[in-house]
Amino acid sequence: MQQAPSVKWACRRAAPAPRIQLVKILVTGGAGYIGSITSELLLDAGHEAVIFDNLERGHVEALDPRAPFIRGDLRRPEQIAEAMARAKPDAVMHFAAYALVGESMQDPQLYFRNNVAGGINLLDAMRAENVRKIIFSSTCATYGIPDRVPMTEDLPMRPANPYGESKLMLETILDWARRRHDIEPVFLRYFNACGATEKLGEDHDPETHLIPNVLKAALGIKDNVPVFGDDYDTPDGTCIRDYIHIVDLAQAHILALRDGVSGAFNLGNGEGFSVKQVIEVAREVTGRPIPVQMAPRRPGDPPRLVASARKAADRLGWKPKYPDLHTILRHAWAWHQKHPSGYAA
Ligand code: UFG
Repeated sequence: MQQAPSVKWACRRAAPAPRIQLVKILVTGGAGYIGSITSELLLDAGHEAVIFDNLERGHVEALDPRAPFIRGDLRRPEQIAEAMARAKPDAVMHFAAYALVGESMQDPQLYFRNNVAGGINLLDAMRAENVRKIIFSSTCATYGIPDRVPMTEDLPMRPANPYGESKLMLETILDWARRRHDIEPVFLRYFNACGATEKLGEDHDPETHLIPNVLKAALGIKDNVPVFGDDYDTPDGTCIRDYIHIVDLAQAHILALRDGVSGAFNLGNGEGFSVKQVIEVAREVTGRPIPVQMAPRRPGDPPRLVASARKAADRLGWKPKYPDLHTILRHAWAWHQKHPSGYAA
């Protein structure tokens, strides 16, 4: 990674000013939920970002005007090759992918073509321009149904759907590139990303995630929230997830840029909340009733997914700033109130 000037943060007293190395990042999927917010934080921290996105599922409104934008598709090798040659980044952050478990069960090839073949095109383009570092947006879906929680990175990888499998395949490909070609991959395995910044939030079509759907019900855009199964082996019978603020996820990417960081890291708060608990907290935060409707189990939902993020804490120095579910929901609620119909409005 090229040496760049250091930044001194405002600091009047004796403590030594923290220094960060400024770098240029090619952000694939920078118009999507996690990619756009990570770009915002990168730029706020003084880094340069170049955004590559096909705008198929991302939003032009989520593009940060401070970053040059290249419209292109990873499935077109010449487009990512040209973008890499133009941007000449120090590192890549790779978010561009399909990410719906249900859709992946319907059409596995769609996922392998975009997430795996597209990833290989990205790797080829990196190698052609001698870009070594890649921070890859991976998922806890690579583990499948875990034998135990909290989940550490050494658990067996048994993805239960093509989405998780596609992410694991690209992890494997990138790991071979590490062994054979000196690529430095970092795999960030997200648990349940949620929350918003002042400007940017979550807007998928269709929206399948719990928190945005709960907030749409609070806004009256949806009549009710379906609760997919209340007969799981959990205290209240509904599935348990580890909800992690998007700003904390974004921060982990920035920490992972440091030289010498590689390997896999789970990113979650280490605390699980059931579907019913999330709805209850949302009622408190919004002050709205949020009607629910009991529904059958959703195929492929593991009962419990909770991270151990000890490795990220120890090796990256990562400490979530917004671990409290009330805060996460407050931030998401503020965004949804401003954007009741998402970015399109
Ligand atoms: N749920 C409902 N009602 C809804 C939506 C969701 O009851 O309207 C439940 C789900 O059944 C699940 C929980 O809420 O038990 C969380 O569901 P999400 O769809 O919000 O999130 P997932 O845990 O299914 O998915 C997330 C990421 C995926 C990733 C997966 C790993 O969005 O990309 O975690 O399991 F693959």
